[in-house]
Amino acid sequence: MKTQYKITLCLLAVAAVVAGCTTTPGPVNLDKLTSDIVKASFRDEGIVKVSVLDTDDTNRACSAADVAGKPLDETTARAIEAENLKSIKWPTAGKFLGDWKEGEKIAQSGRGLTYTDDAKMPNGGNCYNCHQIDKKEISFGTIGPSLYNYGKLRGVTDDPNSAASKAIVEYTWGKIWNAKAYNACSNMPRAGHMGILTEAQVAHVVALLVDPKSPVNQ
Ligand code: HEC
Repeated sequence: MKTQYKITLCLLAVAAVVAGCTTTPGPVNLDKLTSDIVKASFRDEGIVKVSVLDTDDTNRACSAADVAGKPLDETTARAIEAENLKSIKWPTAGKFLGDWKEGEKIAQSGRGLTYTDDAKMPNGGNCYNCHQIDKKEISFGTIGPSLYNYGKLRGVTDDPNSAASKAIVEYTWGKIWNAKAYNACSNMPRAGHMGILTEAQVAHVVALLVDPKSPVNQ
C-alpha cells in the first residue's frame, strides 16, 4: 500500500514536470494540426479528391457548435439557413416533378462517391439509409423521419402542379437540394448543392415524395 502511494506520487511529479515543459496547443493550433494530419494521410484517388475534406462556413459553424456542446444561437442559425437558401438551384422551366419510378430507384441506391466508382455513372440518393419511404421496403434507417405518405399528409392535391400544392412541392425540392437551407446543422446531405444528385434526379425524387400516384402516397 505504501509503495503504491510512493509510485503514485512519483508519477504525479513526472507528469507535473512534463506538463511544465510542454505548451498545450490552443484550439486554433489543434484545428490546424488536425487538418495537416488529415491532408498528409489522404491523397487523390480515382474520382475522390482530397478537396472533399474542405469545409464551408456552414460546416465550420456547426462543427464549432458541436465541439462547444451547445446549439447555434438563433441569429447565426438563421443566417446560415439564408445563405444555403440563396444557393439553391430551382428547376429549369419550373419543372419540379419527374418520374416517381426513377425516384424510387435513386432513393434505393447508395452508389457513388467512392474512389472505385466511375464518374460517368450516376450517384444514388441513399435516402433509405435514413428514412422510411415506400411501405413495401422493409430495410431503412431511422436517423430521419419517416417519409411514408409524405405528400398526402402535407396536403399535396391530385394535381401536384396546382397553386395549392406549390409551397410544399417547392419546399421538398429545396430540402433535397440543400437540407441546411431549412435547418442549419441538419444531418441530411445537401444532395443538389454538393453535386451528389443532378437536377433531373432531384425532380424524380421529389415526384416519389409528392406525386399522388407514387406508392408513397397510397
Ligand atoms: C444521413 C441521413 C439522411 C439522408 C441520407 C437523407 N436524409 Fe432526409 N433527413 C434527415 C434528417 C435527420 C431529417 C430531419 C432533420 C431535418 O429536417 O434536417 C431529414 C429530413 C428530410 C425531409 C424533411 C421532412 C419534413 O417533414 O419536412 C425530407 C423531405 C427529406 N429528408 C428527404 C430526403 C431524401 C429524398 C433523401 C435522399 C435524396 C434524404 N432525405 C436523405 C436525414 C437524412
